[in-house]
This record gives sequence, structure tokens and C-alpha cells, in this order.
Amino acid sequence: MAMIETPIGLKEHDESRQGEAVMLKGNQEEQHNRKLYIESYGCQMNFADSEIVASILLDKGFTTTADYKEADVVFINTCSIRENAEQRVRNRLKEFEAAKNKKPGMIVGVLGCMAERLKSKFLEEEKLVDVVVGPDAYRDLPNLIEKVDDGTRAVNVLLSREETYADISPVRLNTNGITAFISIMRGCDNMCSFCVVPFTRGRERSRDPHSIVREAQELFAAGYREVTLLGQNVDSYKWTPQATEGTADQKPVNFAQLLVKVAQVSPLLRVRFSTSHPKDITDEVLYSMAKYDNICNYIHLPVQSGNSRILELMNRTYDRSWYIDRIQAIRTIIPDCGISTDVITGFCSETEEEHQDTLSIMDYVQYDYAYMFAYSERPGTLAAKRYADDIPEDIKKRRLTEVVNKQREHSLKRLQEQVGKVHNVLIEGFSKRSDKDYCGRNDRNAMVVFPVNTKYKIGDYVQVLGESCTSATLIGKIID
Ligand code: SAH
Ligand code: SF4
Ligand code: F3S
Repeated sequence: MAMIETPIGLKEHDESRQGEAVMLKGNQEEQHNRKLYIESYGCQMNFADSEIVASILLDKGFTTTADYKEADVVFINTCSIRENAEQRVRNRLKEFEAAKNKKPGMIVGVLGCMAERLKSKFLEEEKLVDVVVGPDAYRDLPNLIEKVDDGTRAVNVLLSREETYADISPVRLNTNGITAFISIMRGCDNMCSFCVVPFTRGRERSRDPHSIVREAQELFAAGYREVTLLGQNVDSYKWTPQATEGTADQKPVNFAQLLVKVAQVSPLLRVRFSTSHPKDITDEVLYSMAKYDNICNYIHLPVQSGNSRILELMNRTYDRSWYIDRIQAIRTIIPDCGISTDVITGFCSETEEEHQDTLSIMDYVQYDYAYMFAYSERPGTLAAKRYADDIPEDIKKRRLTEVVNKQREHSLKRLQEQVGKVHNVLIEGFSKRSDKDYCGRNDRNAMVVFPVNTKYKIGDYVQVLGESCTSATLIGKIID
């Protein structure tokens, strides 16, 4: 997924790219109904899905709580991308066990990718789990909860070719009121050999563009000023009108066209998107970004490896020179574009020389930011079936450290280049360290911290002069 992450709370090579689980904020007003607690792991798509789940259950009269110990229904929305992501969930379930023992009738449910991967096996392995629900079955949740109330443990892990939850307005959780995610598609039809997502999320399908634009309009009207369009491979977004709804004005919509439609909601609404796939990102998308000021100049373009043989084994369907060509296109069409990436070290049979190719492509691009991981074999994937996971753990980790150290240099260099320049920053909130400072991101997704000026409030755009930086943050001041 997906994914432009805010650098807040991110840890390099953490199993969840958000780094930390995010808890649902409590709704203190209505205490009389059943209380839902939901905790999310993994990519932004998963976080966006939790907002759909909350919407479905709040519609049925549930209220929310931030304390799982007082919840009637405890959900954990899980990620399977690497083994340690699954281990974290299992540890967390142990913590829920004590709460459940103290509160008979408490329902514990596992949602998301791990539910999909393990299906009913979960119920055998984890005795405290009452309900297991895959990412395409959330509409069935009220019914499944009823089944559990009646004394049966319930599973629905059916994947769908159509479900996009297009008609469901997500309940925004843990929101700053300024930035929000919009899912534009689900699933993935690529078969990267290391990746579990096609198995946990099913076939790729695109959401009706009208419902996407409507959601963006509603967010803007509610005061939001930035939306991030989410999909595992946004460049393959393709919406084709159904024959039954076909009217003269309904034409197919591709990703570049969708971007423009969302950008046209308001010049004051920033648009970001994630994830772009190097094989599919088109010049049309790049030109749309260049044309609309409010489409942010930032692209997350996962390279995974800098070596063509490894890329082929990964089934990424591009090679090193294709990737470099796409970087050149970005640099030519959008000269000031921020670029980030994902890297995997120690994939099956990777030699030292091939690892050097990853380091050299990093030197070539000089990414603003990177998410870096040691290869973790996932059962059922093409790589698990075809190739031996033969790089010893200590070598994977050493290569990862080299990649992380290189990225640290590049992140710092990219930020240093932005010192002395003036940035258009959307104020997202107070800085984590001090309520005397605001924070927000510039166009190319760098986090900027600057002293509060009472003339401006959260949600305003301000011009900030970058005065210094750390390896993660630009520090500056508002200039009027
Ligand atoms: N759809 C996105 C990625 C989604 S998963 C894309 O195509 O880029 C996010 C990242 O997790 C991937 O880019 C990859 O770098 C990493 N990842 C996925 N499977 C992995 C595995 N088995 N081991 C280590 N890292 C993995
Ligand atoms: Fe996984 Fe590849 Fe699909 Fe990304 S594009 S979700 S890495 S299969
Ligand atoms: Fe996302 Fe993890 Fe699933 S990265 S799609 S939650 S396996």
C-alpha cells in the first residue's frame, strides 16, 4: 500500500509502515450502547479500512472507546506483510486475553490481511478470537457479531471482485481534521514474488470516480485541506462505466484523469497519492502533477532492488534502466519533485554485487525518504514456492544497515537543499515536542516545524523560510 506515510512516528524497517498502532479515539458522549475498540496495523489502506468498519458499526448504534478494557467488541485490524507484523498481533492478542477473562461477553475479532491469510485457522490457533473477518467482508460484521452473541464463533473471509465500499462514508479516526485518506481502489493484480498482498486483498478493482470526488468534496467542506488517494498500484486505476448505468457523459477514467478531477475540487485542497508502480506510472500523470499546483510534487516509487536480475526474480516487471528512465521523466517534468522508495535487502540469492546495485541506485536517485526492510519469506507467495530464502539473517540485516545508513545521508542532504528556501506549508497541528510550534508538510512532503504565529491557525497555508534542519525535519519561521 500504498503509500505516502507521514514521517511522524515512522520507524525504518518497522513491520508496520505506520510504525505504531493507532487507537480509536473514544466517544465520551454516548455511553449507553455497546462499545467498539479498534486497533490498526500495517499500511494506510488498513487504517482507511478501520474507518469503514467504524462507520458500519456506528450505523448499528455502536459507540467507540479508546480503552479496550471497557469495550464490548475489540477488533484488531492486522497486517501480514512481514513475519514480525504478525508476531506483534499475536502478542497483542495475549494482552486482550486478560481483559476478556475479566469481562465475560467481550468479543475479540481479527480483521484485515492476517485474518484473510489464516482464515479459520486463526480460531484453532488463538482460542480467544471469536470472529475472523477478511478485508472484503466488513459489511457482514453486524451479522457476524450477532452470530457470536448467539454462541457461535464466526468467520467471513470471502474476497470480492466488486466490493469497494464506495457508498460508505468513513468515520475519521484519530484525525487532525486537516488530512485524510481516500481509498480509490482495492486489491492488487501484480504478483510480486515476495508479496502476500494479492492473496490477502484479492483482485484489483477501482472505485467509482464520482464517489471519490464526492468524498473529497465532503472532506473539503468539513475543513480538511489534504487528501491522499490510496491504492496498492494507483497508476493502474481504471474505472469503466457499467453498461447499465451508461449515459452519454460517462467515459472511462484513468488515474491521471481522476487526479485532475480531485484537484479541481478546490485549489485549496492538496492532493497526494500512493503507491505508484514504476512499471505503470505514466507521463500523463506527471504532466497533471506539473499542471495543478495543488497536486503535491511528491512520488513514492518503490524500487525494491537496484539489480535487474533480482527485480526479475521479484517479478517486478521492470529493470534497473526502466526505473532510471522513470526517475529521469520525473526530474524533467517536475523538477522539484520529492521522491521516496521502498527497499528490500537480502532477497533470495542476492549476491554482494547485486546488493551494491541497490546502494548505487540510491546514490543515483538520492531519495528524500525510504522505507527499508530485510526480506521476510511469506508462506504461499511465489518466492516461497520457487526460491530458497538463502541469505542468512545476519547478512540481510547488515545489508539493511548499509541501506539505512545511506538513506540517512540522502535524507539529510535533501533537507539541507531545502534550507534557505521558502515553502508553502499546510499547518497540520502543533509540533510533537511543543505547543509553541506548528508542524506541517511542504509540497514535497518534508515535515516542517516553525514557531506559532497567532495570525494563522491549523488548516491555513503559510509561507515558511527553512532556516535549518535535522535528518528528519526542516526548521523555519513564517514569513508574512
Ligand atoms: N503496493 C506497494 C507495496 C505494498 S507493501 C508497491 O508495489 O510498492 C509495502 C512494502 O513492503 C513493499 O514495497 C516492500 O518493500 C515491502 N515488502 C513487501 N513484502 C515483503 C516481504 N515479504 N519482505 C520484506 N519486505 C516486504
Ligand atoms: Fe505487493 Fe507488488 Fe501488489 Fe505492491 S504491486 S501490493 S508489492 S504484489
Ligand atoms: Fe497493507 Fe499489510 Fe495488508 S501492508 S495490504 S495491511 S498485508
